[in-house]
Amino acid sequence: RSGAAAFVPDSADLTTLREAACDCHGCDLYKHATQTVFGEGPQNASVVLIGEQPGDQEDRQGHPFVGPAGRLLDKALTEAGIDRTQVYLTNAVKHFKFEERGKRRIHKQPGRTEVVACSAWLNAELAVVRPELVVCLGAVAAKAVLGPSFKVSEQRGQVISTDDYAVAATVHPSSVLRAPDRDVAYEAFVADLRRIRQATE
Ligand code: URA
Ligand code: SF4
Repeated sequence: RSGAAAFVPDSADLTTLREAACDCHGCDLYKHATQTVFGEGPQNASVVLIGEQPGDQEDRQGHPFVGPAGRLLDKALTEAGIDRTQVYLTNAVKHFKFEERGKRRIHKQPGRTEVVACSAWLNAELAVVRPELVVCLGAVAAKAVLGPSFKVSEQRGQVISTDDYAVAATVHPSSVLRAPDRDVAYEAFVADLRRIRQATE
């Protein structure tokens, strides 16, 4: 077996999974990143939020969504009526992929190979938490869960039911930070989150 699958313990709770993920060599990203950043939140959470991969701050601190994108996400969740402490937050890829430019570490989008390699962790998290709703933040998470042909731009905010859970996608909070009109992008992000919450209540 290639990818993370060889490192994922068979039957597990989140603590066991998180500990095992520290030693994952399922793709090359562990070589340059500081540490594995595993998902966090209550094991009985009814909502799972999936981002792309840890950023610079997440890589240093070891927790998901603690940098600028995380602060924006927190604010948007509050405005959409979603309690972050009740949500399990994770990423499609558990190690930071970056390029060094001088002293700066610039985020690089993970490729399909890395997403597929890391999917065994995401699947294990979903199997343990068994959420009612999965929200994908951005194209990388959406494609990881819904397949490579899924287009966030066409289907953002729509709730799709599967055998296991309802799933919806919206943009990534980092894309809101980069948007030319940040206020408009932010309002659209909050509107998606609110619509997804209301459709699944
Ligand atoms: N962006 C992500 O997708 N995940 C994080 O944890 C932080 C930034
Ligand atoms: Fe393992 Fe995922 Fe890290 Fe690759 S990115 S080494 S598959 S945890």
